[in-house]
Amino acid sequence: MAQQPREQWGTRAGFLMAAIGSAVGLGNIWRFPYIAYENGGGAFMLPYLVALLTAGIPLLILEYSIGHRYRSSAPLSYRRISRPAEAIGWWQVAICFVIAIFYGAIIAWSASYIYFSVTGAWGDDPNGFFFGDYLQMSETPGGITGYVPAVAWPLVGVWVVVLAILALGVRNGIEKANKVFIPLLAVLFLVLVVQALTLDGAVAGLDALFTPDWNAMLDGSVWVAAYGQIFFSLSIGFGIMVTYASYLKRKADLTGSAMVAGFANSSFELLAGIGVFAALGFMATAAGTAVDEVATSGIGLAFIAFPQIISTLPFGGALFGVLFFASLMIAGLTSLISIVQVVVSAVQDRVGLGRLQSVFLVGGIIALVSILIFPTHQGLHYLDVFDHFINQYGIVLAALAMLIVFGWVLRRLPMFQKHANEVSSIRLGTWWKVVLGGITPVLLGFMMWDSLRTELT
Ligand code: PHE
Repeated sequence: MAQQPREQWGTRAGFLMAAIGSAVGLGNIWRFPYIAYENGGGAFMLPYLVALLTAGIPLLILEYSIGHRYRSSAPLSYRRISRPAEAIGWWQVAICFVIAIFYGAIIAWSASYIYFSVTGAWGDDPNGFFFGDYLQMSETPGGITGYVPAVAWPLVGVWVVVLAILALGVRNGIEKANKVFIPLLAVLFLVLVVQALTLDGAVAGLDALFTPDWNAMLDGSVWVAAYGQIFFSLSIGFGIMVTYASYLKRKADLTGSAMVAGFANSSFELLAGIGVFAALGFMATAAGTAVDEVATSGIGLAFIAFPQIISTLPFGGALFGVLFFASLMIAGLTSLISIVQVVVSAVQDRVGLGRLQSVFLVGGIIALVSILIFPTHQGLHYLDVFDHFINQYGIVLAALAMLIVFGWVLRRLPMFQKHANEVSSIRLGTWWKVVLGGITPVLLGFMMWDSLRTELT
């Protein structure tokens, strides 16, 4: 196993930027607004806040403590807790491997769409343009029938940037990149939201998003959605935070950092909700329909609805598009860096490879698979399969396994609590053990069961 001294973050702010960079991603911009809208609007904020406080931040603290205590990436850290637990770490590495492959593709599309926003490439048919002209996607799943260079080149670019940053290392690569990207993202996104708020119909959009449906709070699926969003959004259960925390100095404020990262991520998410729904309000008003008719999430929101909004804007459309797609690209990039680092550092720590070897070998494989799969006419079909597998089972299962093994079987929560309290500003009380030992695993189990049940019926 590698015996070189472990790399370290240069500053606390650097670690925080990287942790926030990982958390703030596509999920904040294109997932949260719609999930909130669908699950009670203004009334969703309460379950969401409860989920943040009872699962999000406590789990962040747990992952930070594990990484900080054992100073290794996820599989090796878990192995140091108990040999068989290493398997949970490799499961997380596998999830990161899969996510990285398609996250890269979406970032590359965003990069292309920055350019298309200026040229107005989609004309008056964003839907036909995206699936047909741009991705040249085949109608049905099946054999590989072709490869689209116009989609491949930006993707190659994304991977070159990501691998170069990782090759520079934790302090000179990941930390420096996040220190530039995160403030830049904040500025771009704020300008975007301000522009969105000036549009005709913005208020209708905000009304649609925030009007509370209090009955929603009695609906179990709304609570499941809130916990699901917090998990995905804070990148919990992927081993990312274990990995990032393993580069902290001995003296590190774990609980304080978890609070900052948790609230920063949620603030960004709320801001994205305001921006996206203001824009959707404009879209609905321009088309003379209700916001209900145009509200969507994911690829449909980013690559179909937003292009339409950009085309409809009386002026400033190109600027709006550039701001939106640049935000998406940057938010995605800083998340992608963190996911790939999980895989790279796991192999580095466990096999004893040097950083560069690991980046180019492991990162290179991920990049290659991504570049081979996504620009084919079948790319989008794979994305659907991945997405389903990861969201429904991957993450929840990993987080649940961690809590069952470390909390119930090995009874290590008191030890991690003690560890966090030795170094942190905010002391963890007994509530932390109660939450992670009781409430969260039960909820996660319920979520698993719920998705299995809907799958089978
Ligand atoms: N947290 C990211 C988001 O909100 C998603 C993500 C999940 C990123 C897992 C990395 C790993 O978009």
